[in-house]
Amino acid sequence: MTLILGIETSCDETAAAVVEDGERIRSNVIASQVDLHAQYGGVFPEVASRAHIEVISTVTEQALTEAGVTLDVIDAVAVTRGPGLSGSLLVGVNFAKGLALGRDLPLIGVNHLEGHVYSLWLTERGGPVQFPVVCLIVSGGHSEIVLITGHGDYTMLGSTIDDAAGEAFDKVARLLGLPYPGGPSIERAARDGDPAAYDFPRAMRGEGYQFSFSGLKTAVLRAVQPPHKGKRQPKQESMHSTQLRPDVNVADVAASFQAAVVDVLVEKTIRAAQEHNTTEIWIAGGVSANQALRQQMTALSPLPVCVPPLSLCGDNAAMIASAGYFRFVRGYRDDLDMDVRPMWPLMSIHDTMTRPAAPGTA
Ligand code: KG4
Ligand code: ZN
Repeated sequence: MTLILGIETSCDETAAAVVEDGERIRSNVIASQVDLHAQYGGVFPEVASRAHIEVISTVTEQALTEAGVTLDVIDAVAVTRGPGLSGSLLVGVNFAKGLALGRDLPLIGVNHLEGHVYSLWLTERGGPVQFPVVCLIVSGGHSEIVLITGHGDYTMLGSTIDDAAGEAFDKVARLLGLPYPGGPSIERAARDGDPAAYDFPRAMRGEGYQFSFSGLKTAVLRAVQPPHKGKRQPKQESMHSTQLRPDVNVADVAASFQAAVVDVLVEKTIRAAQEHNTTEIWIAGGVSANQALRQQMTALSPLPVCVPPLSLCGDNAAMIASAGYFRFVRGYRDDLDMDVRPMWPLMSIHDTMTRPAAPGTA
């Protein structure tokens, strides 16, 4: 049995978890900072890193206690190295280094996006995974379609050229005066709305696997803002305005916006799966909690669609421990001078190793 302690602090959740053999969650503790950032309408980086420092020791102790273990039986420490907020990443990485040094444990840096992929490894399923699979990773910072041909083997098929899907949800929610975080707020508001009320654009439809959501965001802004009085137009339209035209039905706007995002995510992911002959479609990341996305993907896909349970959609450390396990068993190790990578793209395991694999394990 191999036990990995996972640590995640890339954004606004301080999380620690213990995972057995990459697929069995022994504990999964998350301290969310959501209430702290709600007053700013988004994550305030300086506040986030300070909050991580305050709770990381207790969150980690709690994860060990709930798993019924001590550090003596942990085989390795896996920590999110990037992408994310640098000040936040540094807290987790330095804490993990302290544990690794103090207990002489292997240190494994994990890409946060790879972590989201491995949330599917922690999800109950009918049988073993047959590669290749295609995974749509949709979060606050990313919208990627990734082809996975084996553990740690990734080909990036497409990503967003501007805003990430979750970022678009957050910006449009702010515009509509809905509370942070925007994704769940839009989803709630959309339940009473008509998705066909507004014909918002579906950008880059039919073209490759790239996404673009900034035009959609601007189309929503134009549809809801009051007409300008007088001759002068404001120089810049503000995405922070909560002054809406009196005739705007927020539920209809939310439902029509959500439908536009979901349409392109679903269409491109299914096409990617078909063109690469994958066995399944996976969805991961914070936006994978969205029921409209889950339902439409499942309804339209000719292939099985796998989604994580809601508890594993958002940021957590179990997914980092699971990804860390699959690196650990392949001989992947990082040195104690490992840096943080705020802009780190998802890369295959052999392109990210900072130390050669241990003999016989690659
Ligand atoms: O993966 P995550 O927790 O953090 C990042 O790695 O960014 O994703 C957070 C994003 C936020 O933009 C949030 O608004 C969005 O996921 N989100 C949702 C839903 N729940 C969270 N978007 C749409 N529908 C949801 N139910
Ligand atoms: Zn995330």
